Amino acid sequence: MNLLNTKTSIYKNASKKVYDITSERRAEYRQISKASRLAKRDAEQGLHEKVHEINKPLLDPNILMPQKQSNHLKTLSLFSGGGGLDLGFDRAGYKHIASYELIPICKDTFLANRPHWKVYAGPEEGDVTQVDWKKYKGEIDVIHGGPPCQPFSIAGEQKGLDDERNMWSEFTKAVNIIKPKVFVAENVLGLLNPKFEGFVKKYIIDAMSDYHITKFEMSASDFGVPQIRRRIFFVGFKNSKNSKIFKVPNPTHICEYTQKKSLFNPPIDDKSNLTFGVRKALGLSDIGYDNIAPTIRSGFTGKRNTTSVLNSSAGQKSWGDMEVWPNGVQINRESASAFPAKGNHFRLSIQDIGIIQGFPESWKFAGAAYQVLGQIGNSVAPPVAYNVAINVAKALKY
Ligand SMILES: C[S@@+](CC[C@H](N)C(=O)[O-])C[C@H]1O[C@@H](n2cnc3c(N)ncnc32)[C@H](O)[C@@H]1O
Repeated sequence: MNLLNTKTSIYKNASKKVYDITSERRAEYRQISKASRLAKRDAEQGLHEKVHEINKPLLDPNILMPQKQSNHLKTLSLFSGGGGLDLGFDRAGYKHIASYELIPICKDTFLANRPHWKVYAGPEEGDVTQVDWKKYKGEIDVIHGGPPCQPFSIAGEQKGLDDERNMWSEFTKAVNIIKPKVFVAENVLGLLNPKFEGFVKKYIIDAMSDYHITKFEMSASDFGVPQIRRRIFFVGFKNSKNSKIFKVPNPTHICEYTQKKSLFNPPIDDKSNLTFGVRKALGLSDIGYDNIAPTIRSGFTGKRNTTSVLNSSAGQKSWGDMEVWPNGVQINRESASAFPAKGNHFRLSIQDIGIIQGFPESWKFAGAAYQVLGQIGNSVAPPVAYNVAINVAKALKY
């Protein structure tokens, strides 16, 4: 089943546009996939020795988000995907009430991890456009969600409001009916583009005029996640006092691999809060070079059903310098180790990609490799969500 082939034709047609790639790019994809098929055939026929040992990662993302005791704040999750925001709020001590998500396989992911949670997924029960939110009125403290962001992403065509995949109006509708104490909305950086200033004002800020809204950017590598991943957050409180107390999360980690100066200045000899590079995070041998990963591809950009996490051609070089192969990601470490990659580079598994996105291995994803990568690539890095959730709870004085 295709991750995207789950709902209305509007959704499908809109998705198609994203896949209108150039003929050069298509040829490049074809070449990668041919090389990959041949290598896999050779591996299956036993023509290769195992080229790498099964890796034991050094980074446990749970450490980046220590489990907090219950704060009794009740959350409703919209556009839940594979659960990045949900997991961050869960670790921060919130009480999960329900999640809504269009893609059916995401329900299996949620239930594999939190069998007792109420999860509505698939076109029949998970489509937020069909939900009568009145039943949650007065029952929810926090609504969180990442409305689909292709209309604003660099990889998309930046059509904004005209794009059928703009789901902001559904998010604001839920907030205005349910009236939670606070909402947390996440989106891609493209939304900061001056081109969308009018959109942000009219369809986000003014559309939730009862809320006092703070808009800010977060970088996953400032929170110990070994990846370049910048996202924008809108946090709106109903009560202005809470909004004044709310603080944008301070970085918890220093990332030596980014050029930008961190806001965070712990004692220089304190190495406990350095963001690991990919090789170190995954427990790979020291080759004298490491780096954080380029942004992992979102499940909605580039070629469909792919098991590549490459987001751009520039990314290929960055992965190459780390001697890590970003294509043909395998369903587990055993098959990755048995399937040699070009140039003896390390072949990734979905578990490795989960770690690079800040998911602990205890969080299991359902589906085939490409479906798992789709869920991971669309998610908020859980440690980032966690740090927002902690500061929101503080602002609500819990
Ligand atoms: C950016 S992802 C959200 C990821 C999630 N916040 C996380 O952290 O893992 C957006 C999600 O919205 C879902 N979606 C799109 N249209 C929807 C609809 N009408 N109802 C429910 N979910 C929808 C997509 O399938 C996708 O999984």
